[in-house]
Parts: sequence; structure tokens; C-alpha cells
Amino acid sequence: MTETRSHRLEILIGTIATGLIVLALGLYILFEPARVQSAGQDILHVQLDDAMSLYAENCAVCHGLQGEGIGSIPPLDNPALRTMTADDLFKTISRGRFNTAMPAWSQSDGGPLSDYQVNEMVQLVQFGDWNATKDRVVNLGLAPLVPFTTEPDPALFEQIGSLPDGAILQTAIKIFAAECVSCHGADGLGTKIAPALNDPLIREKTAEELNRTVTLGRAGTLMAGWNNVLAPEEISAMVTLIQRWNEIPLGTIPAPNVPIATTTESIAKGSDLFIANCSRCHGPTGQGTPRAPALNVKSVLTTTSDQALLQIITNGVPGTAMPAWGNRMADADLQAIVGFIRQWEATAPEVAQPTVGVGGPPWRQAATQTVKAALDWRVLLGLTILLATSFSLVSIGYTELVKK
Ligand code: HEC
Ligand code: HEC
Ligand code: HEC
Repeated sequence: MTETRSHRLEILIGTIATGLIVLALGLYILFEPARVQSAGQDILHVQLDDAMSLYAENCAVCHGLQGEGIGSIPPLDNPALRTMTADDLFKTISRGRFNTAMPAWSQSDGGPLSDYQVNEMVQLVQFGDWNATKDRVVNLGLAPLVPFTTEPDPALFEQIGSLPDGAILQTAIKIFAAECVSCHGADGLGTKIAPALNDPLIREKTAEELNRTVTLGRAGTLMAGWNNVLAPEEISAMVTLIQRWNEIPLGTIPAPNVPIATTTESIAKGSDLFIANCSRCHGPTGQGTPRAPALNVKSVLTTTSDQALLQIITNGVPGTAMPAWGNRMADADLQAIVGFIRQWEATAPEVAQPTVGVGGPPWRQAATQTVKAALDWRVLLGLTILLATSFSLVSIGYTELVKK
């Protein structure tokens, strides 16, 4: 009697177990394709994520903050590239383009990237999100700081019209301000990335030589050929300008103001860095203290460009208490601080209200901060709950004790 009952129980358990296994298998079969697909998407996601950093480190300097192209260097956010075969794109990126500024990137062609990484770049060009890429480039502090274009000074430009062949010089100045200033600098005086063209040694070169360089560029350098962008007579106008630059007054092609790009993340980082490094002199809200002037005032922000702020913060103000931060912070940090300071501009007061009494020895600042933090409502709420709980525990304990 008891034996058959336990037998039945065994059968029941066996059936249930088998049923569960079949159910599990069924579910697995049902969900497997979706799982494989999402695993595939995860891989693509990881590759695109890697690719954005590789882009920031290797390509942004030429192809721009978000693949928009710079000067004569073509954009990569180009729908035509999304439909090009992955194979052709792979070849372009790994081998570069012969006789242009586009270098070879794959290790087998002497470049720095593995085939896997080149493939990641292909994925970026075909499926990437250029807005997200822009954020990555900015957050890594690798946004190209080159001024893209500028406007010639109207009065000086007018004056140049009356020089011999003035119209040709004017054409060239307009083109220089639109296309070349980004690398060759204001008034052609050069930048970190390209040599001065307003230079006696360059004026000595022959027109043919200069014409060839502008037309074809210099392979393997940032200097691309301009024959796809400029007409032959425009190129020869550029050569005329380069050869007669000594007749062009300084200030004709002024330095443009390139705003430093920001993201929510970079502004948050700038805020942290400001509090940690700058607030003890410039005040927690940039209103100044007896030690250092206000930064958060209209007069400073409207007259100081991002580039100028960056320069002051990087180099400090020699002979004053303002330290040079360039050798203590990464470029990304310096740019993040400028971005943070700039967002004050919209609400900056006309006249600052310097914070008096901030500063002081570090222990006093720390003490003030601790007291301020303690006054936060969350801390107060936590303390109240803690007190209430311990009070009830004590009273329960007390009642029990009295009972005994
Ligand atoms: C030194 C400047 C420079 C750098 C750095 C650079 N490129 Fe280029 N790239 C160029 C130039 C110039 C061209 C146009 C070549 C031509 O005229 O065919 C180009 C063309 C391309 C093209 C073909 C575009 C088209 O419309 O056919 C792709 C794709 C490309 N680059 C991807 C990249 C990637 C990815 C990186 C980073 C790993 C990179 N480039 C870095 C200068 C550069
Ligand atoms: C993306 C950056 C970039 C842009 C834009 C650019 N150049 Fe250049 N250019 C360079 C670099 C870098 C060199 C130096 C190449 C080398 O090392 O040989 C150079 C060299 C030159 C030279 C040769 C100077 C010499 O020493 O003989 C001339 C001429 C020149 N550029 C003219 C122009 C003109 C005109 C424009 C605009 C139509 C222009 N460049 C736009 C980067 C640029
Ligand atoms: C030890 C004190 C001190 C610290 C710390 C300090 N500064 Fe300054 N800063 C000064 C003084 C003093 C000046 C005024 C220099 C002068 O007289 O031109 C100044 C000037 C400046 C100016 C120029 C203001 C103008 O009116 O043109 C900027 C911008 C600036 N500081 C930014 C910063 C930033 C950003 C930090 C933190 C990374 C920082 N400072 C940290 C003392 C300080």
C-alpha cells in the first residue's frame, strides 16, 4: 500500500521534471534567434564605441569634430560612404589615398591600426552616430581647435582693392579667410599645425613651385591638394597673394573666435575642476574674492573669447598669483573649464559681488563645507529617521525590561 503510493509519487515527480525540461528547451528555441541577434548587436555596439575613440584620436584633426570635413578634406558623415561597399571602404582606410593627405592606417601598410580596428572604422562610417562621436571627441579633449573661417577686416580689404591687381589680391584674401586660415593662421602667420605663408623665405619660391604645392598638396601631410575645390585662376590668385604678402597690412585677416565645443559631461567636469582648483581664489560662483578678480561678470565674458580664456588659463598671468595650469592639467580638462566658465555668460551680472571671507586656510574651508553638507535636507531626513528608530528600539527594550 505505502509502496504503490511512493511509486506514484516518483512517477509524478518524473513527469513534472520532464515537463519542465521540455518547457525550458521550447523557450530556449523560441528565444535563441533573438539572443543571437542581440549578441550581434552588442558586438556592433562595442565596435562602434571603440571606433568613436579611435576617430577622436586619429581622424578628427582632419575630418572634423563630427565627420563634417575641414577645408578641402572630405566629410565622412556622407550618405554616399554609407552605401559604398564595406570592402572598398576598408581598402581606402587601410591603404590611404596615394598622393593625398589621407595616410594609410593599417599596420600592413605601415600605419598604426590593426585590421580589426580598421574594420571598426568602417563600421563607424557606415553605421555610426556622428552626434555621439562629437561628444566623444569633445570629452576626450580632442576637438580640433583650428579656427575654421574668418572675415577679412572690411576697411583694410577695401584699401587692398586699390593696389595693383587689387582685385586678384582681394579674391585670394577671401579664399584664404574661408579655406586656409584654419591651418595657416591669421594673416598667414602660421599655427601649431601648419607653417607661415606670410614669410620672406616663402616669397622667394617660384610661382610654379607654389602653384604645384597648392594644386596637388604635399602627400602625407595635412596639406591637401586644392584642385578639386579651387579653379586654376583662383589657385594662381593664391600664389600672387603668397608672393606679395609683404604689401598686405597686418590685421587684414584677423584671428577668428572659435568657441570651444562642450557636452553635458564636459561642463560637469569643468564645474568639478573649477571648484577643486579655482574657487579658492575666484570664489565658488566665480564672483571673485579679495585674492583674485571676478570671472563671472559681463565685462570679462563678453570681451574674452574662448581661445583667450584658454590661453590665460594655460599660461597663467606671469607676475601675479594666477598660476599656469597648462602643465598640471590635460587639454581636455582645460577645455572643460573654459566651457564651464563660458556658460555663465548668459546670466553673468554687470557688476560682480566678490565673496569676502572665502579662502582662508584649507581646514576652515573644509569645515565650512562639512557644515553646509550637513544642512542638506537628505542628510537631515536620514538623521531624523535614525533618531526615531533608535528611540523606538530603546523604548521597546525598556518596556521588555520593566515587564520582567
Ligand atoms: C592628415 C589628414 C587626414 C587624416 C588624419 C585622416 N584622413 Fe581620411 N582623408 C584625408 C583626405 C585629404 C582625404 C581625401 C583623399 C582624396 O582626395 O581622395 C581623405 C579621405 C578619406 C576617406 C574617403 C572619403 C571619400 O569621400 O572617398 C575615408 C573613408 C577616410 N578618409 C577615412 C579616414 C579615417 C577613418 C581616418 C582615421 C583613422 C582618417 N581618414 C584620417 C585626410 C585625412
Ligand atoms: C588642414 C590644414 C591645411 C590647410 C587647410 C591648408 N594648408 Fe597649406 N599646408 C599645410 C601644411 C601642414 C603644410 C606643410 C606641408 C609640409 O610639411 O611640407 C602646408 C604647406 C603649404 C604651402 C607650402 C609652403 C612651403 O613651405 O613651400 C603652401 C604654398 C600652402 N600650404 C598653401 C595653402 C593654401 C593656399 C591653402 C588654402 C587654399 C592651404 N595651404 C590650406 C596645411 C594646410
Ligand atoms: C592662487 C590664486 C588663484 C588661483 C588658484 C586661480 N587664479 Fe585665476 N587669477 C588669479 C589672479 C590674482 C588673477 C588676476 C591676474 C591679473 O592681475 O591679471 C587671475 C586671473 C584669471 C583670469 C583672467 C581674468 C581676466 O579678467 O582677464 C582667468 C580667466 C582665470 N584667472 C582663471 C582661473 C582658473 C580657470 C583657475 C583654476 C583652474 C584659476 N584662475 C585659479 C588668481 C588665481
